[in-house]
Amino acid sequence: MQRLQDRVAVITGAGSGIGLATAHRFAQEGARVVCADIDETAGAKAAAEVGGLFVRADVTSEDDVARMYRTAFDTYGSVDVAFNNAGISPPDDDSILETGIDAWRRVQEVNLTSVYLCCKHVIPYMQRQGKGSIVNTASFVAVMGSATSQISYTASKGGVLAMSRELGVQFAREGIRVNALCPGPVNTPLLQELFAKDPERAQRRLVHIPIGRFAEASEIAAAVAFLASDDASFITGSEFLVDGGISGAYVTPL
Ligand SMILES: NC(=O)c1ccc[n+]([C@@H]2O[C@H](COP(=O)([O-])OP(=O)(O)OC[C@H]3O[C@@H](n4cnc5c(N)ncnc54)[C@H](O)[C@@H]3O)[C@@H](O)[C@H]2O)c1
Repeated sequence: MQRLQDRVAVITGAGSGIGLATAHRFAQEGARVVCADIDETAGAKAAAEVGGLFVRADVTSEDDVARMYRTAFDTYGSVDVAFNNAGISPPDDDSILETGIDAWRRVQEVNLTSVYLCCKHVIPYMQRQGKGSIVNTASFVAVMGSATSQISYTASKGGVLAMSRELGVQFAREGIRVNALCPGPVNTPLLQELFAKDPERAQRRLVHIPIGRFAEASEIAAAVAFLASDDASFITGSEFLVDGGISGAYVTPL
């Protein structure tokens, strides 16, 4: 499929995981991909792999975010797709009783303030073009509670979800679609390592997933490519769950 032929797509956090898988998927579908990351080595490698452009950007910096879209526009002539995906889940973000204000604030900055900055700076390009698709990465924890809390992470993703919905409504008649992607747990190297050491911890989570496994990053990337493309032309303001059925489940299959 070449649904993104000649579209210019900017991906934050493109150096790893979901962002990297999406960079590959976007390129396969014909997009010109701008790979943004704070990690220069990983970001530059991703850009080289997909024949795209690397921009070093810290998504918590307004100057970096503005420069990222300006570079994309100056290089390729438009900004058609923004995948605002960079995010962190550090170990010191835990139960509310344990999580200090510094950890709380850092997660809010990287996960939520960054999405505010990215949307604020990309929307004017899309307004001038009269079209655009924004996909903001939230999480299934934006719609479900967990006894294994990461309190700032959860609150940040709830914020991403609500902000995306509002922007989707506000800009709908200007041809700009804004959706919140809500992935379930993804089979990343970090998660593999954690759960290999502690199978009980993995099982406690797997029992809630009707499909019976974690997602592959490529499965999340496929959903992002759909939302970015004109196949999703009537989808905006959505909470787009790609969660293996977790959020719909009560009793799961044995
Ligand atoms: N992995 C999961 O199970 C899962 C589930 C639901 C949602 N998510 C969300 O998906 C997104 C991507 O997750 P992932 O698992 O692919 O993560 P990852 O850690 O594999 O990749 C995140 C990338 O973001 C970059 N990054 C971090 N801080 C940055 C900053 N300040 N500026 C620019 N880049 C920065 C990192 O360098 C890294 O390359 C995150 O928003 C995460 O919260 C992940």
